[in-house]
Formats: sequence, structure tokens, C-alpha cells
Amino acid sequence: MGGRLINSSTSLPDAKSSLVADSSVLQICGGHSLAGHVHISGAKNSALVIMAGTLLCSGDCRIRNVPFLADVERMAEVLSALGLRLHREGDILDVNAREITTSKAPYELVTQLRASFFAIGPILARLGVAQMPLPGGCAIGARPVDLHVRGLQSMGAEVQIEHGICHASLPGGNGKLKGAKIYLDTPSVGATETLMMAATLAEGETIIENAAKEPEVVDLANFCNSMGAKIQGAGTSKITIVGVSQLHSTDYTIIPDRIEAGTFLLAAAITRSELTLSPVAPDHLFPVIAKLQEIGVEIIEEAPDRLRILPAKTLKAINIDTLPHPGFPTDMQAPFMALLTLAEGDSIINESVFENRLRHASELNRLGADIRVKGNTAFVKGVPMLSGAPVIGTDLRASAALVIAGLAAQGTTTIQGLHHLDRGYDRLDYKLQELGAKITRLKDTSANVDVTDHGNSTPISAIVP
Ligand code: UD1
Repeated sequence: MGGRLINSSTSLPDAKSSLVADSSVLQICGGHSLAGHVHISGAKNSALVIMAGTLLCSGDCRIRNVPFLADVERMAEVLSALGLRLHREGDILDVNAREITTSKAPYELVTQLRASFFAIGPILARLGVAQMPLPGGCAIGARPVDLHVRGLQSMGAEVQIEHGICHASLPGGNGKLKGAKIYLDTPSVGATETLMMAATLAEGETIIENAAKEPEVVDLANFCNSMGAKIQGAGTSKITIVGVSQLHSTDYTIIPDRIEAGTFLLAAAITRSELTLSPVAPDHLFPVIAKLQEIGVEIIEEAPDRLRILPAKTLKAINIDTLPHPGFPTDMQAPFMALLTLAEGDSIINESVFENRLRHASELNRLGADIRVKGNTAFVKGVPMLSGAPVIGTDLRASAALVIAGLAAQGTTTIQGLHHLDRGYDRLDYKLQELGAKITRLKDTSANVDVTDHGNSTPISAIVP
């Protein structure tokens, strides 16, 4: 069993060439409406951290509803390099962490995937020592790890950062972390998750104050509790963890991806289309639905896990401030900006979670949008139409924003930088194609030939990072 996950059975075609070449581009012929139903995959940010969480358990973990993403592949490679055994069949991932053969995570993988740094908590809890390169991920800000480090230090770890590697160890004693009271200066999702995982196997009680409340934090807590951890309060700002001596095997299903669902709602809104989406957790989408309704879009909760979005008549300008959950999610900021380019009036978008997350504005302007950026605020003046152009996705959600804009733009939009999109969206182009979008992945831009039509031919059998 290697780190690369070979999937064989899935309802969608497998993904191979679509996720291989960085030189691929997406070509969208805009101005067509969408119709039908879209299946929402498991949550990326849950899947990644739950995969890290399997390090806590010396038995078998079965994780269901695992999305097909390059980031999942990378995380699998990190775990595999640590000695874990993994096997994937469709959206089911089996992980066995009975033996962790090294405490040192591989530099070349961790630097590509921020979430892999979160494994420092479980590795330290299991082995009493961990060496983790400082993380990578989207270039949307400085993204420090000081809160992770300070929390582990409060729990008795000695932590030093040397030559880009975070060395953590437990001096003396019985090789266990100790329960502690931890206050997070900011409700960091990753720090909450790292510390929550570390605390499950610590001696005594840990309290995390000002914890992140994101649904993925709750999902991780539920996963850990399904292995016998004692975590209470996840989803509130105070999480209490009583350490246990070991965790047992589990079979756990990941929640639906609220950001993927939000992205499809926006794709429908901008193309004035009617779509249904399931499975979804409408509660997790509350700020997204509220803002879409304010823009003038009607969304019906058809069933507890199913939404229907109706064709928008008019789109009105609104203001958005990104905030930690349950505030408006920073991961939806770029896709909403794409929609607001076509709204009537002036919108103001303030990005307050990350300091460099408005780079898509200039790319949207290439499509005919009228956006001015000052500091962390974007002033969006609605325009009557967008027109297709070549653009580059600068990060994961920026790339999704360009896809959304491209669906509405008149003419042809070509999007480069697909490695970002493939990190975090489960076959977005294929799913859009199924809904009627004229979207095609071209493997080689220079030759401008060799069109991959996911609907007909390409089997996706491995996602190559
Ligand atoms: C996670 C999500 C990401 C989402 C983000 C905010 C994963 C894999 N990624 O990222 O999709 O955009 O939450 O919802 O789950 N900070 C510090 N010190 C730290 C840690 C964070 O100052 O030690 C700051 C960051 O720079 C940022 C803010 O806290 O300004 C929020 O970051 P955080 O919640 O930690 O984001 P991630 O966990 O990296």
C-alpha cells in the first residue's frame, strides 16, 4: 500500500488526466444556463484533518465520503511516508496507523499542503516527538503557526523551529502531553484542530478558549469521539477535552463540503439557473444562503439535506465582511466577488481573515469587471456583462471565482493555474459539464489540442499531485 490512492469505484468517472498536468487550462464558453442536480462531495477541510486524526488511533479507521482531490492525495502521501497503511476504494478510505515508523514528516510534501502540518499534534501525542516542516498551501497571507506551537508548549512540549523545521518533543516524564488551559488569540481553525487532537491522548483535561467553531472542527471532534475520545463543546468557543489512554477503531462519514455547495449555488445564481444540490447541511451554509437571499436569489430547503436554487431575476449589490464561523466564510469571498461583478450597484467586500486574499480582483477585471482594491477591501461596481478572456487562478478559491465568472462571461474564457482548483474541488469541471456548462479541460495550451471530455472518455483512476 503506497501513499497514492487508487480509486476504482465511484459514481463519477475517475479522474486521471484531468488532475495531472499543471499546463492544463479550462476553456469555458460562457452565457449558457445550467440545469439539473449536483452531488456535493465530502468536505475537503474535514477530510484532510480527519486523515491526520487517524494518526491518533492504533487500530483501523474507515473514513467514508472522502472527496477526490489532489490535497487528499498529498495528505495520503504524508501519512504513507510516516509509515501508515492506506487503501482507497471509491470514496472510502481505510487507514491503519498501528505503526508510525518515523516522527519526521517529508519536507517536499508538507510544504505543499498546509493541513499536513496539523498532524504535528497527533504525532506528538502518539510518539512523544514530532518533526514537521513549516507548512505550505495557498499564498493568501503569512499564515503563521504560532498558535499551534504555543498551545503545544502549554501542554508541556518543547518546541523549536530550526531551518524551517518545527521540532517538538516531550522532555522527561512518561512521554505524554499534559492537559492545559489554552487561549487562542484568534479562533484559528488549524490551531484548534491540532490542539484538540493532541489533547485527546494527553494526561488530564485541556480547555481551548476562543476555539474555532467551524463545522469541520465539529466533524473532527465527532470523528475523535467515535474513536473513544472525550471532547465536549466543539462548535462553541470553549472546547473541553479529557485525555484518554488510547483510541479505538472507527467507521466515520465526513460531512458534505459547504464551500463546494456554496460554489455551485453561485454558479447557478450567476447563470440565472435552477439547480438542486445534495447532500448538504443547510445550517453550515447559513451565512452563504443569507447573503444570496440579500442579493435577490431564492433558495428553497427541499429536504433536510437538499437545496433548490431558483433562477435569479435581478442581482442586487451587497456588502460582505469575512469572519470566523458562523460569520461569512473567507473561502466564499472570491466566488461571491465573481457574482457581485454583475450585480446592480456598488458592493464592498472586506477580507478580514487573511491579509492577501483579493488577488482575483485583477483577474476578474480582465473579464470586464470593475473592481478597485484598497488594502483588504474590494469595491465592486456592478457591470451589465462580462466578456471572456485568458485569466490565471492565483489560489484555490480565486480559481473557483474565475470559473463562476467564466460561466457568465460572453465568449470564451481560458483559465490557467488549474493545480489550485484541483487541490480543493472534486472534479468541478466534470460536474459543471453534467449540468450543461460548456466547459472543457485542454491538456496542452501551446498545442491547443487534445481536448479531454470527462463526460465521455477519460477514466480517472488516480489523482497525481
Ligand atoms: C483553515 C482552512 C481554510 C480556511 C481557513 C479560515 C483547512 C485545511 N483550511 O485554514 O480553507 O480559509 O481555515 O476559515 O482547514 N493564524 C495565526 N497564527 C496561527 C494560525 C493562524 O495568526 O498559528 C491566523 C492566520 O494567519 C489567519 C487566521 O489566523 O489570519 C485564520 O487562520 P486559520 O483559521 O488558522 O486558517 P487555517 O487553519 O490555516
